[in-house]
This record gives sequence, C-alpha cells and structure tokens, in this order.
Amino acid sequence: MASFTSREDDEEFQDLLYQSGFSNHFSTEALPGALPVGQNNPLVCPYGLYAEQISGTAFTAPRNANFRSWLYRIKPSVTHEPFTPRFPKHEFLVADFTSSERTAVTPTQLRWMPKKIPESPTDFLEGLFTICGAGSPFLRHGYAIHLYAANQSMKNYALANADGNFLIVPQEGRLLIKTEFGKLLVSPGEIVVLQQGFRFSVSLPDGPSRGYVAEVYDGHFRLPELGPIGANGLAAPRDFMVPTAWLDGVQHTEFVIVQKFGGELFEAKQNFSPFNVVAWDGNYAPYKYDLKKFCPFNTVLFDHADPSINTVLTVPSEKPGVAILDLVVFPPRWLTAEHTFRPPYFHRNCMSEFMGLIYGSYEGKAEGFLPGGCSLHNCMTPHGVDTTTYETTISRGCETPTKISEETLAFMFESSLIPKVTRWALDSPHLDKDYYKGWIGLRSHFHAENGHTKA
Ligand SMILES: [Fe+2]
Repeated sequence: MASFTSREDDEEFQDLLYQSGFSNHFSTEALPGALPVGQNNPLVCPYGLYAEQISGTAFTAPRNANFRSWLYRIKPSVTHEPFTPRFPKHEFLVADFTSSERTAVTPTQLRWMPKKIPESPTDFLEGLFTICGAGSPFLRHGYAIHLYAANQSMKNYALANADGNFLIVPQEGRLLIKTEFGKLLVSPGEIVVLQQGFRFSVSLPDGPSRGYVAEVYDGHFRLPELGPIGANGLAAPRDFMVPTAWLDGVQHTEFVIVQKFGGELFEAKQNFSPFNVVAWDGNYAPYKYDLKKFCPFNTVLFDHADPSINTVLTVPSEKPGVAILDLVVFPPRWLTAEHTFRPPYFHRNCMSEFMGLIYGSYEGKAEGFLPGGCSLHNCMTPHGVDTTTYETTISRGCETPTKISEETLAFMFESSLIPKVTRWALDSPHLDKDYYKGWIGLRSHFHAENGHTKA
C-alpha cells in the first residue's frame, strides 16, 4: 500500500507528518537510526532505548488479522506505581451491558438534541457520556456508543483503554491527540481510531468540543469487501493517515496513566511522559480518515441502494456479512434515480441504527435532527423520513438530478447486537419527547383506482 507522507495544512500544527495506508507495516523514527536493523529485540537497542511490543491480537491470530507493533522508547511503559481506583468515579460511563443496573431497554424511536458544552472545566475523558451499548469487554464481545462534550485539554495524564477500540467522530472543535505513536490533528469531518491499549492524551486547540465515540470490544476495524464494485471505491487505503514518531519535549516529573479496564477507571503515577517513543514499526497504530474523501456509489437508474453501500469501516462478526459495528457515512452525492423515492425508505431492521449529524441537514429529516444530535432506531423499530420530507418529495417529483449539499455530513453506527440504553440518556433533558410526532402526520394517500404511477 501507499507509503508517502503528507503535511497538515494548518499553521499551528504544520509540523505534523503522517504516513499513508491501511493496516500495512509502518516504520518511523524521530531520530535517525533509532530502529534496530534486521531484528525486533536486540541485546542493546540504538540510543540505549528499550524495546517493547504491543499486541493488538492474540500472538496466534491468522497472519492477515494479526496486529502488533514494536516501540523503541526511553523508558518502558511498565515503569509506574501500582494502579488504584480513580476518584471521583466517572458517573456516566458504562462498559458492561450484561447488567441492567444502569441501563434499560425500549423499542421506541429515540432522538436526542445536541448535548450542551459544559460550563465547568471538563476534558475529553470527563466529558464522556455513554448512550447505549451491548455485550461486555470481559467477554470481548459488544460495543458502547458514547457522546463527549468538553472544554479543556487533558492535563498531565494519558488514557489507555483496555476494553476496546475507540472510533471518535468530532462534531465541533478539533482534537489534537498525542499518542505513543505520534500526534494526530483531527477536525470535524474526519474520524480517528485509537485502538485498544494505546496511551493517548486529547487536547482541544479550539476550546469547546463535542462529538461521538464508538467503542468496540470484539476486534479491529477493517475496510469492507467491495464485491461487484471491483477493486476501487468507497474508502481508499491511501487516505488513512498514521502518525510519525514524536517525542514529548516537556520534562514531566509527575504524569498519571489512567487505565479504563472493565468500564472502571484506574490511575498510576510515573515520573516521565509516556510519549517517549523514539521510533516504532508495525501494523498496530492509530489512524485518521477524512470522510470527505469517501468515494460513494449508488443507483444510476432507479430504486435505492441499501445504506451499507456507504460503509467506511466495519468490525465483522463471525457470521458472514454481519457486523458487530459498521461506520456508514452519508456524504454529499448526486441523486439521479428515475421514478424513485430518493430519500431513505421506510424501514424496519434486524440491525440497530445509531445516527449522528456532523454538519448540515440530513436528507431524511426536515427538522429536529441537528448537528451534534443523535437518534437510535433499535432492532425492528420502524423508522423513515418524516411527514414534511415525504410530502415535499412526492410533490416535487424526481425528473432532474439533484445534489445533496457539500455542507452536509451524517453518519451511522449500525450493529447486529441489540443495544441497551443508559438510564441517564433516557432521563436526559436532551431527549426529544416529540420525536414520534414527525411521523404521526403521515396521511393515507390510498385511493381505489389503479395506483400504478411509474413515470
Ligand atoms: Fe434504517
């Protein structure tokens, strides 16, 4: 796969360099010659560094699904005091959904207005707010969906998630994410994947920030198969950006590692920055992707492709074609289908659908679905366009191609596992109790005459 580097187009972060590709083997050095030659674990590493492997899959996972990297660092990550529970406890974080203590089930269509940015100092971790999920990290099966709303950077500590892989979708404010592998600057419209175990710290260069997080316990995100589409299309491997090695230049005498483990938070002190990796190589590394680079496919004559045609990344289950969690994007694109109802169809689904809106307005909802808001249509819960969208669409017709605005970007997390919803999400003042009214106005258009209206 491709291996060029690209430079951030932003004055403040113009030093950030990325490697390009998806799941290939990367090699990067902050100092020349820091990577050992011809072996992973020499008796003495260049520059006197420690060699440390991080395994993202079992040692014995098949070669095409085996993820690991070697980090060459000034001090190994084991050098810290014992972990102790972090206080105060996080109030709104759930990982294990096998218990109903903090969650509930409902088949009702749910929609939430955008979560307000907090007024008191709140960082990315403190601002996490679990909405729903299924399974348990103890079983290595399932997922959680969180929102975050924050207004300050994480200070002198790093988070490591032992439970699963984070996929973050910023909606407002950029994230500057420092990791052991290097730095990533992630803007609304981009997504970032921080896999299980990586130590990272989130800074907010724009201040108030908000977004969505999917956390998957089963395994790693992959590119979907392309089938009859062929060898090209959808998300291209070249467009995934992986950081280059970077050393924290600040001398820290006290730094805290926070480990998310079974949904609980633990912390341990150390007297140095965890961002002390001088070089690394391997195929287990964080990455970001610009959703605007997605190459969409769809019908060019009639009817409507299923939304799976817009899958960016997937975590497959053991059942063929069935996902633990898909990331699906609804990007700007031309709608050209003839004699066809072009917006999303009315639908009931054995899969569960969580939707978010990064900016703009979604084609299926004339009102009420706002940037930063979200909806959940659980297993077999009916959903579809609202009354206004339906009436407007059938009265307007579809004689000419139309384009969904460049200023619109929506996405969906879709899962075969049925999510439970946290009690605080159901009690939230942001819950839109009038959501159902968007469909109540759908009137009967039935008439006794032959209703075949194909143009
Ligand atoms: Fe649907």
